[in-house]
Amino acid sequence: MPIPSHRGTLATPSGAPHARLWGVGGYRPSRVVPNSEIVDAINSSDEWIQQRSGIVSRRFAAPDESVVDMAEHSARQACERAGIDHSRLGAVLVATVTHPYQTPAAAPLLAERLGAKGAAAFDISAACAGYCYGISLANDMVRGGSAEHVLVVGVEKLSDFTDPYDRGTAFIFGDGAGAAVVGPSDSPGIGPTVWGSEGDKWDKIAQRTSWIDIKGAMHERGEEDPEFPAILMEGQPVFRWAVWSMAKVAQEALDKAGIAAEDLDAFIPHQANMRIIDAMIKQLGLPDGIPVARDIAETANTSAASIPLATQRMLDEGEAPHGGLALQIGFGAGLVYAAQVVVLP
Ligand code: UT7
Repeated sequence: MPIPSHRGTLATPSGAPHARLWGVGGYRPSRVVPNSEIVDAINSSDEWIQQRSGIVSRRFAAPDESVVDMAEHSARQACERAGIDHSRLGAVLVATVTHPYQTPAAAPLLAERLGAKGAAAFDISAACAGYCYGISLANDMVRGGSAEHVLVVGVEKLSDFTDPYDRGTAFIFGDGAGAAVVGPSDSPGIGPTVWGSEGDKWDKIAQRTSWIDIKGAMHERGEEDPEFPAILMEGQPVFRWAVWSMAKVAQEALDKAGIAAEDLDAFIPHQANMRIIDAMIKQLGLPDGIPVARDIAETANTSAASIPLATQRMLDEGEAPHGGLALQIGFGAGLVYAAQVVVLP
């Protein structure tokens, strides 16, 4: 078919030359849950949990505290620190796997609560890599011109989806939210993202059953319930994958950014297991003295929230410098992963 001659030339979207993080915020629910509260149901001990994972305690959200509630707290702090009025957010991305509605997404409700009227809003289901996926998207959106400022939130209420009787996961997960505002910049603030998926390991960290399988039979929690679609994990293969494959991904992100490990001001890996963090440091040959996020001790594994929460803690406690270079890497259910070097706000 001939192309009509009257057709105009399609405009090309154009954005900022570069993007950067303008502010990071975090929210930790008030209830501290020590290992002693977890151990009886899984015939474990505080000593075993600390030795095998580095976890001392975690936070659990209140029963009536939702993913959107936690996301809102972290988002408000991130925007305040970025000095960005909520009305200037062009897009709201929420990385989560524990928003308990198949639809609608958490992001539009968060945008509404923040007063980010009309912002594009959607959720990202990339588990523990969700925040880094979001930062990659936000970087491209700001540079591509589809939004000037993008709010990226990683938030989880894993206590709602954890089987307290499952030995492999009951002690691992925690609740919380972390957020970042990504906006325009004159100089590069977010390096190239190295990301991908390994779907052959799709079943390694997965909900026990699909919603269809349980035919909507959402049971009362608190008692043993083999039907409940809790998130389960085959710990050892995931551990090995994290240690061997993810260090390579982190190195690739450094190489693509043109940054040497010794140039880093912080290493902020997903807080999955203290032993994984230590093994990655070794694999990467990270020089001594570079601050490493170890938020897992008091926050446990908060999946999509773990990297922004750890970032917030390092900045607030003066462990990492504002304006410094941080390597961040997320990895988890899918299995999926993403890593990039960022300039800290
Ligand atoms: O966030 C997404 C990505 N996630 C990860 O990267 C997590 C990766 N996996 C892990 O972090 C670890 O596999 C876990 C922390 C989950 C488990 O640690 P592990 O060292 O892999 O434990 P294991 O499953 O190999 O079990 C070792 C031993 C076994 O006993 P035997 O056979 O050596 O006598 C288990 O029966 O520990 C026993 N065990 C436990 N003991 C007390 C397993 N779970 C427990 C428990 N408490 N909760």
